[in-house]
Amino acid sequence: MTLIRDPCCPSKLSKLLSMIAVAGLLASAPSSAWAKCADPAGPGYAAAAQAQFSCSSARDLSGSAGERQFQVKLDFPSDPPSSTNLPWKSINFEQQPEAYIRALLAYGIKDNIGVDWRIEDNTVSRWCHAPWFHSQRERLHGMTLERGSRVKELHEGQLASARNWAVGFYNDIGCFALGKIWKDPTFPKTKDFAFPDGAYSIKLLFTTASTRDVPYLTGSKEWSAAINNDNTAATMRLLQVDVAVRDTNADSHSGWLFGTFIYDAYAPGLTVWEKLVPVGLMWGNDPTLTSTQYEERGGVPKEAWINPAVAQKFFALPRHNLGLHGRVNGPVDNPKAACLACHGRALDWGRAVLRGTPQNDEANQLLPLVVMPYDDAAVGNYFRNLKPNTPFVAGTQPLDFSLQVAGGVANFRAWVAMNFPDQAPNTTDVTPFRFNSDGPTPPAPNLAAQRASEGTPRAGGNEQFIRGEE
Ligand code: HEC
Repeated sequence: MTLIRDPCCPSKLSKLLSMIAVAGLLASAPSSAWAKCADPAGPGYAAAAQAQFSCSSARDLSGSAGERQFQVKLDFPSDPPSSTNLPWKSINFEQQPEAYIRALLAYGIKDNIGVDWRIEDNTVSRWCHAPWFHSQRERLHGMTLERGSRVKELHEGQLASARNWAVGFYNDIGCFALGKIWKDPTFPKTKDFAFPDGAYSIKLLFTTASTRDVPYLTGSKEWSAAINNDNTAATMRLLQVDVAVRDTNADSHSGWLFGTFIYDAYAPGLTVWEKLVPVGLMWGNDPTLTSTQYEERGGVPKEAWINPAVAQKFFALPRHNLGLHGRVNGPVDNPKAACLACHGRALDWGRAVLRGTPQNDEANQLLPLVVMPYDDAAVGNYFRNLKPNTPFVAGTQPLDFSLQVAGGVANFRAWVAMNFPDQAPNTTDVTPFRFNSDGPTPPAPNLAAQRASEGTPRAGGNEQFIRGEE
């Protein structure tokens, strides 16, 4: 895992592979692409699956010799952690949304800024990462590709498009739930998955945007991250911090709250963390806020709080709103979506959905990453208020608003399908989804035969859960 690739002369193939990795496609690439992971302890499926599971990053690294590398932390607690004294529980989010979201941020940074988010150094609290992102995590901070920011999306002076990468963390209550899925890394159990009250995640989003293009980034936290196509590092700046929490006080809505902060050099405060300004908090999707409602009748989100000062900054730009029709989203996010709605799509198909297959096309139709405005039916469907145990697509296993759980499980299933197709039926405890394109016979992914006939493996799955590709 600590191997550094010979910086000399990357072959055409490895260049191609790293480009594919940047696009997040590597979930089930040829086995040589997994070389950064430790070798399996023995032959066969179980040892290979275990080695993949424990792998921090399967990407290459060039030119950062001596720099500290990302280490994935997956030691999930086996007993339910205490959920008393969670600071947000005493705050009414509808009446005091700003106090609520600030409590979420304070909780998330308290344990972690002292160790600069190297959570493995933290001996007191029990934070963890989500597993099975190693093919997408860059080597220095474990960040994965996010949607890029177009010219003028972040600021009117933004002349160049920017690349954005991010890393997320779960609190002990969230980690406990991840542990239930991944207790046996060779066979994830997703049936009836749900997070307990108090499960919480925080995500740091960094950008390559310069302070000349985006002046409010001046003085922000900088990290060096191995995000370049040649696997060298670039300097990135903290732009956005996302928080999400399962709170039973929101059970009459969706049971989750999602909110986000933007770093603002001009905000009061001495530290980077004090200069994070809340953008908004949402606890429902406002399903009736269609394009017609918004454009013609002045509709605004009701199941949310938006910080007017921040909204105003973006209203003048081409993107107009952060989320669709004024819903909550971060500056990095796609304006044709919103936090809670995109996350309500988290599910397990119970099987691999591989790129380039008709099943993948169908999956994209059933589970669109974002929604086109002006199609009121599509907007209404995308912004349904789902409960944690209701899937976005009937007949699938919902994964309780966690796209890291969904993406990790999808990466695992794609890897199994490509490398150990015989194990696919033995590694799901939920019924595999039937796509129309499966035809009359039940799905039996005979990929070994497919590979043999095509010569090369098809690129892997997970397209529905990759934010970087919108
Ligand atoms: C269009 C889809 C989309 C939108 C909009 C979106 N996210 Fe996410 N988010 C993702 C994906 C995909 C992941 C998992 C992959 C990753 O972490 O890189 C993710 C991961 C996360 C995580 C890590 C834990 C988890 O649930 O997976 C948090 C926290 C999070 N997002 C919060 C937010 C917040 C807050 C917003 C709004 C400001 C938001 N997201 C908007 C797609 C989206």
